Amino acid sequence: MRKIAITGVTGMLGSTIATLLKEKFEIFGLTRDILAIEDYKAVYTKLSGINPDIIIHCAAYTNVESAETNPRDCYRANYLGTLNLANASKKTNSKLVYISSTGCYGSYSSDAYCEYDPVKPTTVYHKSKVAGESIVSNVCTDYLILRTGWLFGGNISHKKNFVYNRFLEAKGSDKIVSDPFQSGNPTSVDDVADQIKVLLDEDVNGLFNVVSEGVCTRYEYVKAIVDLCGLQTSVEKAATPFKRVAPVSYNEAAENFLLKNMGLSVMKPWKESLERYIINHIRQ
Ligand SMILES: NC(=O)c1ccc[n+]([C@@H]2O[C@H](COP(=O)([O-])OP(=O)(O)OC[C@H]3O[C@@H](n4cnc5c(N)ncnc54)[C@H](OP(=O)(O)O)[C@@H]3O)[C@@H](O)[C@H]2O)c1
Repeated sequence: MRKIAITGVTGMLGSTIATLLKEKFEIFGLTRDILAIEDYKAVYTKLSGINPDIIIHCAAYTNVESAETNPRDCYRANYLGTLNLANASKKTNSKLVYISSTGCYGSYSSDAYCEYDPVKPTTVYHKSKVAGESIVSNVCTDYLILRTGWLFGGNISHKKNFVYNRFLEAKGSDKIVSDPFQSGNPTSVDDVADQIKVLLDEDVNGLFNVVSEGVCTRYEYVKAIVDLCGLQTSVEKAATPFKRVAPVSYNEAAENFLLKNMGLSVMKPWKESLERYIINHIRQ
């Protein structure tokens, strides 16, 4: 059985990948307590002990807002941490799968971005993710860089579970307000895990967008969550964009240009996957 080491295994995506890939692979889940990714020597020692075939690097400083005021903490995890993982992957001859974000494209187009579009990140967090991408493509020869969208799924106890948090917010109110100005792809972590399985089976390398099919605004996303949860709460459009510390792009939408043209996409429409998640985890 091939071995996979997963960083960030307590997170929304890492925990899902660990669960969905365990039938086919021997999984080594790396929590923050087991491995501080900023520690160069610890990363190499731990990974050479495991000697994995594949490393899936999901750990990241993911707080987009606080990264603006704590850029060094963000870069320490997302830049230095990724350099350590890339070096360990090279020295252990393992494939590195690096999870990045469609927010890296930036704010210069209102069309869904394809992989051949340049990245012009607007926030500290997205700049740090782009810096991580460069490290992976410069240090490793056997790698996947996967730019994903607005992730949903995982456990309801995950602090950043957007779907469950909107359910709780709507359940306690007659009316909630959402942002109709920002677009993206709500993206199922289950579907991302399935797509990773396909890419590992094919043993391809490169940089791919991996998003659930279809684009919507935050408002349309929240409205779909409220409707699919069977709540009567009214969802209203905010008159102006939400005020945020981080200057996030108004358009984080992307298209799976490469996956579709290579005949490798297993990504499903976002609403279909959202309904499945809500039925299985929230409405029950
Ligand atoms: N969520 C999204 O919408 C989204 C969109 C695009 C891309 N991504 C990318 O997808 C990946 C997974 O995101 P997610 O939503 O699953 O994130 P998440 O739920 O916030 O999980 C992040 C994971 O990283 C771990 N971690 C953070 N800093 C660490 C450090 N310094 N050392 C070791 N572990 C550390 C966390 O451990 P603790 O539990 O101990 O904090 C947690 O397990 C990340 O690379 C993220 O940048 C996410």
